[in-house]
Amino acid sequence: MSEQPDVLQARLLVEVAAAASAAALEAIRVAALGRNGDVTRQMATLGKLPPDERKAAGQRFNTLKERVADAITAKAAALAGADLEAKLAAERLDVTLPARPEASGRIHPVSQVMDELTAIFAEMGFTVAEGPDIEDDFHNFTALNIPPEHPARQEHDTFYFPEGEDGSRKVLRTHTSPVQIRHMLTHKPPFRVIAPGRTYRSDSDMTHTPMFHQVEGLVVGSDIHMGHLKGCLRDFCEAFFEVRDLKMRFRPSYFPFTAPSAEVDIGCARDKGQIRIGAGEDWLEILGCGMVHPKVLANGGVDPDHWQGFAFGMGIDRIAMLKYGIPDLRAFFDADARWLGHYGFGAEDVPTLFGGLAR
Ligand code: PHE
Repeated sequence: MSEQPDVLQARLLVEVAAAASAAALEAIRVAALGRNGDVTRQMATLGKLPPDERKAAGQRFNTLKERVADAITAKAAALAGADLEAKLAAERLDVTLPARPEASGRIHPVSQVMDELTAIFAEMGFTVAEGPDIEDDFHNFTALNIPPEHPARQEHDTFYFPEGEDGSRKVLRTHTSPVQIRHMLTHKPPFRVIAPGRTYRSDSDMTHTPMFHQVEGLVVGSDIHMGHLKGCLRDFCEAFFEVRDLKMRFRPSYFPFTAPSAEVDIGCARDKGQIRIGAGEDWLEILGCGMVHPKVLANGGVDPDHWQGFAFGMGIDRIAMLKYGIPDLRAFFDADARWLGHYGFGAEDVPTLFGGLAR
């Protein structure tokens, strides 16, 4: 026995009203109005009624069908609206909340200082050059006019690799100066380059670690002289330390690859485990420099009769200690998160000359 049309209609309307999702509603529609649905099947039997009953019954079913279809359409719209409401509620953003706290990772002072000095030298027209940490004897020593008997070659300073097949031994570069040679051999003068990077010497105390950082500078032109060297380094130091009339001294010195040569110290004070720049009677050596030796120019493929220039090699860790008052060099490489939390920099604090170098 099939349901009476009004009973069927009431049941279907209740089902439609209770549908909890678009999928459930679709299932109800198919079960009622689909090809095998309750409504469709009952309407198919109308033909068997006597003709006088057929018309009235047909009208009742058409009304039923229309009501149910309308209810389904309305319910579908309501369900879609509810979906959108739920999505909007889930994606709601309170723009009045304070900004999220800064990421907890910190930039190491050495990285920060490399970015700072690169920004300053870039402003003076320098570009950045690079070379490998594992060097050969030629670039690290010979081409730099360091003869075989020179003390810098002795085991206690230099980390040597085991002998290779050809009998030569590679080294961990003891300074960034080999990048001078690499750059000269691959570029035509004039040029102005810096080469920041890691350097290695078998040495360890309060102010020395086996791995440390240097930045090399090399300027070659037809009329470059010692005055340019002094002016360039003073301008750099005053920009870097953000101090006018910085206490600075050039001491005559010796390097096989420069002549004349000098070392530069910055005036500072050490007290109560602090190191302060520009005050007191102490000096901290920060760099070696000089006019590039003609033999070194020639070894780099640069004609010393036409070109001359200056070079310097600066200790990055040293200038970081001075600028940021960090007393112990060894702590730089302890990977202590508390130390980094104290002396590190925020990732958004990108140094530029126009935006300010430091926090
Ligand atoms: N390479 C020297 C050092 O490591 C520094 C230096 C570089 C000196 C360039 C003069 C010119 O001590």
